[in-house]
Amino acid sequence: MKFIRYNEVYMTDQGTAKFDRGYAKQYDALSGDIRAYEAFAKTLAGRLLDHMPNAKEVLEIGTGTGNSALVLLESAPFLEQVYGMEIEDFILLARAKQKNAVSRLFSPQRSPAYSREVQERLQAHKHKLHLIKARGEAIPIKDGTVDAVFMNQVFHWLNAEEALREIGRVLKPDGLLVFDESEFQFDFGDTVEGRQIKKEQIVDHPFIKLFQKIFNQELEQQGIVVDVKPFQYLFTLDTLRALLEKNGFEIVPNSAGDPYTITTVRYNLTQVMSFAEKGARMRIMRQMPDLLKMPGLVDKIVAAAMRKTKREWSKLPHRDEGLYGPSQAAFVARKIVHTA
Ligand SMILES: C[S@@+](CC[C@H](N)C(=O)[O-])C[C@H]1O[C@@H](n2cnc3c(N)ncnc32)[C@H](O)[C@@H]1O
Repeated sequence: MKFIRYNEVYMTDQGTAKFDRGYAKQYDALSGDIRAYEAFAKTLAGRLLDHMPNAKEVLEIGTGTGNSALVLLESAPFLEQVYGMEIEDFILLARAKQKNAVSRLFSPQRSPAYSREVQERLQAHKHKLHLIKARGEAIPIKDGTVDAVFMNQVFHWLNAEEALREIGRVLKPDGLLVFDESEFQFDFGDTVEGRQIKKEQIVDHPFIKLFQKIFNQELEQQGIVVDVKPFQYLFTLDTLRALLEKNGFEIVPNSAGDPYTITTVRYNLTQVMSFAEKGARMRIMRQMPDLLKMPGLVDKIVAAAMRKTKREWSKLPHRDEGLYGPSQAAFVARKIVHTA
């Protein structure tokens, strides 16, 4: 067995796996997470609505499998065009949803339920969505064209300086950048709300912690080295503000005067368990793809870890379950206008 080192903090790995049916299916079947993404995309769309109710053309960077584009189209029916841009072959799944052809990509009976749901919902808006395969750092759109750029759970994947330059170029002079970061990347700070978010973040749910410990033990039994690195946030409000300002953008406060809008999604224990299991599979796919080549091994490791965790969990006293869930900070930024 090849030794594999990986970080326990999975978001520090910025590589994305290439599309294959298994991966897309997993990605799309992360129901707990996808519902959170959907809630986050709704908040972002709400911020777009608040700040630019007359927006017509929006560029979405990192459309993925099309789920956030759908939320945007549903939440903002006044939009005329949405350009959905994506670098990975996830875009194939987005295209299949748009063409009402998910069942051709997967077998008709086995296409992921969430994909089918999005496919159905997308039919009412599909003529407004234009899917483009391109990078956020090299946008194939003319200068000063779009009213807003929309990014759900994407900013941290980009080369921020290159992407902000490109975003500044394609936005109209009064255009807006609407984007978010979640608790996995953004430090909500040492405020009452920030402390609360940290106390209730999903990765700190006692079931998840127990599962991760047991999952790592299961990996180690297979000869896989678990390299646990201390967690580091990618952004604080100050570093994000400085990054935006350096690249010609300023944060636009929300209607309450706050620099960002917070959304927290609460998981029940079943969703927590699903998050733990799907998260483990994602980590394997992203960081230990070699394991996928050994038939049945991933299922065996994940199933053993889940079985043992549930057994241990049932012996523990009842905990404050429903409190935990991921949080999002939703930002709006505009181009800085220099007055003479
Ligand atoms: C966490 S997913 C979010 C997908 C989608 N916005 C959603 O809410 O479901 C991040 C997406 O950004 C894409 N991405 C990463 N780097 C990118 C880049 N440089 N340019 C465009 N898209 C990128 C990834 O391939 C992935 O689909």
